[in-house]
Amino acid sequence: MTSSSTSTVPTVTLRSGDARVAMPQLGFGVWRVPDEQAAPAVSTALQTGYRSIDTAASYGNEAGVGRAIAESEVPRSEIFLTTKVWNDKQGYDRTLQAFDDSLAALGDVAPIDLYLVHWPAPAQDLFVDTYRALMKLRNDGRIRAAGVCNFRVEDLRRLHDELGEYPALNQIELHPYLQQRELREFHAEHGIMTEAWSPLGQGGELLEDATVGRIADRYTRSAAQVVLRWHLQSGHVVIPKSVTPSRIAQNFRVFDFELDDDAMSALDGLDRGTRLGPDPAQFG
Ligand code: A2P
Repeated sequence: MTSSSTSTVPTVTLRSGDARVAMPQLGFGVWRVPDEQAAPAVSTALQTGYRSIDTAASYGNEAGVGRAIAESEVPRSEIFLTTKVWNDKQGYDRTLQAFDDSLAALGDVAPIDLYLVHWPAPAQDLFVDTYRALMKLRNDGRIRAAGVCNFRVEDLRRLHDELGEYPALNQIELHPYLQQRELREFHAEHGIMTEAWSPLGQGGELLEDATVGRIADRYTRSAAQVVLRWHLQSGHVVIPKSVTPSRIAQNFRVFDFELDDDAMSALDGLDRGTRLGPDPAQFG
């Protein structure tokens, strides 16, 4: 397989202090991919045309991701790389140390394009200091943009009240069965980009859903492709995970068709408000 030299993925714009940073709207996620599988999966993704990779210290696969980037024909400057600080490393000094540890695992990839606070972990009450460390890393040019994951409206408001800014992006569990409308509206009001984790509902019931299946048949596409289109047309950044080369390729072929209003409305109607992952109010 040869690497594609130009990527067909549209970009969104992240706010980063006074600057702006372009981010591919479709990326490749490696949650739950063991380190030894991460390098081949990321290599396949880069060869397929993905130019955004989402990892985290807690995934234990930053080394594999870094190896795939180092060995790829795609220049580092063309790859948008995201990683995250884990809950047990929150706090100002510990976060700066955790960032150095992530860079040591990832290898020669500095600066990191997007660094995220992985959970608000409200019981620890450290996320404001943690985000302050991200602002320092951004001011020092070590990361290009600072963001968060799993933050609730009240957490976002608190960051703004105490630090004077909203994060560039909030990565949240988001799929047609969990649409998080209130949070997405808050993001839109305040210029926070919405990024979806588990965008395919972790490959479970959602991909067997009758409504999704009916739309997939109508467009002669797979259920996963229909769900990814719903995300893209809803304006989300999306990072499907797969270790299966045919699915990695399939999930990338989503820029040559468009869902009509009827299909989008039907998918909008699937919200159940149920999480697959932890509740941010309790976790960490
Ligand atoms: P696998 O990695 O074995 O290919 P999410 O991104 O929502 O967390 O979903 C990831 C899950 O969905 C993984 O179990 C992955 O399986 C599966 N998956 C990814 N892409 C597809 C696809 N195109 N069709 C069916 N299942 C998929």
